[in-house]
Amino acid sequence: MKTLNVALADRSYPIYIGEDLLSQPALLQKHIKRKEVLIVTNDTIAPLYLDKVRSLLAGYHCDAVVLPDGEEFKTLEVLNRIYDKLLSERFSRRVTIIALGGGVIGDMAGFAAACYQRGVPFIQVPTTLLSQVDSSVGGKTAVNHPLGKNMIGAFYQPQCVIADTSTLNTLDDRQLASGISEVIKYGLINDSEFFDWLEANIDALKMRKPEALAYAIERSCQDKADVVAKDETEQGVRALLNLGHTFGHAIETGMGYGNWLHGEAIATGMVMAADLSARLGWLEQAALSRIQAIFKRAGLPITGPEAMSAQQFMDLMAVDKKVQDGVIRLILLKGIGQAVISDDYDPAKLQQTLQYFQG
Ligand code: NAD
Ligand code: GLY
Repeated sequence: MKTLNVALADRSYPIYIGEDLLSQPALLQKHIKRKEVLIVTNDTIAPLYLDKVRSLLAGYHCDAVVLPDGEEFKTLEVLNRIYDKLLSERFSRRVTIIALGGGVIGDMAGFAAACYQRGVPFIQVPTTLLSQVDSSVGGKTAVNHPLGKNMIGAFYQPQCVIADTSTLNTLDDRQLASGISEVIKYGLINDSEFFDWLEANIDALKMRKPEALAYAIERSCQDKADVVAKDETEQGVRALLNLGHTFGHAIETGMGYGNWLHGEAIATGMVMAADLSARLGWLEQAALSRIQAIFKRAGLPITGPEAMSAQQFMDLMAVDKKVQDGVIRLILLKGIGQAVISDDYDPAKLQQTLQYFQG
């Protein structure tokens, strides 16, 4: 097992990464102060892992709420089912909420924990590659609104993250690729050495070679933890973690939540950001080609959805959280491993990119 640390003063917490961590009761129990636990999961993950997690908590007052599976259920209405369970079963403010699942469950359970009785502890048990390398770390929690992704939420850090890499064995290839998209993101943002490693090891990741997966998860978590420690609430450098997200969130919202997976949408989004960076003369053509190639090899989309027009992109991008004074701030690239946040780009070039990627 590898242990990393998210350094946030009195809210610091460990990330445990390794095989079969869900067979170790002590690891989970030491982060639960009172023996009151609500596990939040969904109807795909429950048959696979709920009993296993429950068995770690023998002697605890432990209940579970099983939500419907899917990004389209990441809503305030479905979130309310967690509060219904907490209140009807009289859980006190000493309850610990365990998020057992991918990013949708992690974001929802974390938001529920942030709000229930003004805040109760929670633990992330991520079960997708995407959630193990990204969403379980850093304390962003949210639900979607019909007008925008993740628009209702809070920053709220977990007590710990337990990433049991054995759970990835039941994940399908499309979901695995979606997670690889976020892994590539770290290489592009500020870790060109990792990008080189990914180019050499992308096939090993797709084939789920355990050493390759373990290395990619550790390095991604370390890269993310370093950024979060510098800027927990995204006043500056953390915005770089949103590379590809302004375009990608527009795709997810425009295509209907759940139709494009998050990692798929941001893969195309990152290629769009790279395309715009190249049009601006900030990124060399050779680097753009490498970026297109690695996403393609990972089995991810690198062209926009046929159903979306440039105008629809613009309308949806205008509600992005990074918009300031009506200007869309974008994460762009000055090289592989050199992401920058900018509102100082030629809007005509943005239009060219949107037109190039529209259906
Ligand atoms: P997801 O939570 O929808 O999980 C993907 C699918 O895999 C679901 O059908 C799920 O039931 C299934 N699944 C989960 N674990 C499994 C397992 N071990 N075996 C088999 N099936 C399994 O999607 P995701 O890709 O994990 O997360 C995407 C979400 O994360 C989006 O809502 C996105 O906005 C959010 N996100 C949040 C952050 C953050 O910082 N909070 C960062 C990135 C993404
Ligand atoms: N996934 C972006 C962030 O955590 O800031």
